Amino acid sequence: MQATEASDYTLTIVPDAAAMSGMAAELVAGAVAANPGLVLAVPTGSTPLGMFEHLVAKVRAGNLDLSGITLFCLDEYVGVEPEDPNSLTGWLKRSFVDPAGIPWDRVRAVASSAADPGAAAAAYDAEIAAAGGLDLAVLGLGPNGHIAYNEPGSAADSRTRVLALTPESSAQAAAYWTAGVETPSRAITVGVGTLLESDRLVLIVSGAAKTEMLRRALEEPMDAAIPASWLRLAGDRLHVIADAAAASALTATNH
Ligand code: PGA
Repeated sequence: MQATEASDYTLTIVPDAAAMSGMAAELVAGAVAANPGLVLAVPTGSTPLGMFEHLVAKVRAGNLDLSGITLFCLDEYVGVEPEDPNSLTGWLKRSFVDPAGIPWDRVRAVASSAADPGAAAAAYDAEIAAAGGLDLAVLGLGPNGHIAYNEPGSAADSRTRVLALTPESSAQAAAYWTAGVETPSRAITVGVGTLLESDRLVLIVSGAAKTEMLRRALEEPMDAAIPASWLRLAGDRLHVIADAAAASALTATNH
């Protein structure tokens, strides 16, 4: 994969997180309207919660049917089952899948408790490919520049794999974990290269805490130190939706 940008991504700067959530939800809803069998991935974390609320409201109002999509979970802690209260898959089920009326059999999750997590990760990559790849991947921006759990050091052509979490990500995860339970040191994540094969990628970013990381991701040379910077390789398949606070340090806003 060449580290050049074939064409430019789209950047939309909106006033606040609510507007970011609304716009991201419209993109997802529009994609599902055009293709009820959409192969979708959505992030975990605080950023997508507003988007989930909008989508669930549309489903409840009868304006959106997500029952035919296939949803691929992007990451999971090694050894943690979906039933575990600390599981990312379980979190996604509670936060989005169940309220949005997505049948559980339409959800794909990596077999993170498999005896051989590396083989499970490779099998998951193959499962995404067998589904025709992701039609739409909505991603959040990690405080350390990660996308899904592709931590700093992740290559542009990395596949779905096991990797060690940075201390920063472990601390971020701890906020979601049952108090007193040690957070895991390893996760399985859909790889950067796998994500870059998606037909469309949407990066949602809000808040002043992300300002500097978004600037580095979009305006510094692409580098494994900031995995999100690789997203620019997707060219015009990438749409960045940032609120004004997150976008405040960007110098080139005419995308
Ligand atoms: P956040 O996490 O949405 O909670 O900021 C983003 C991420 O780590 O991907």
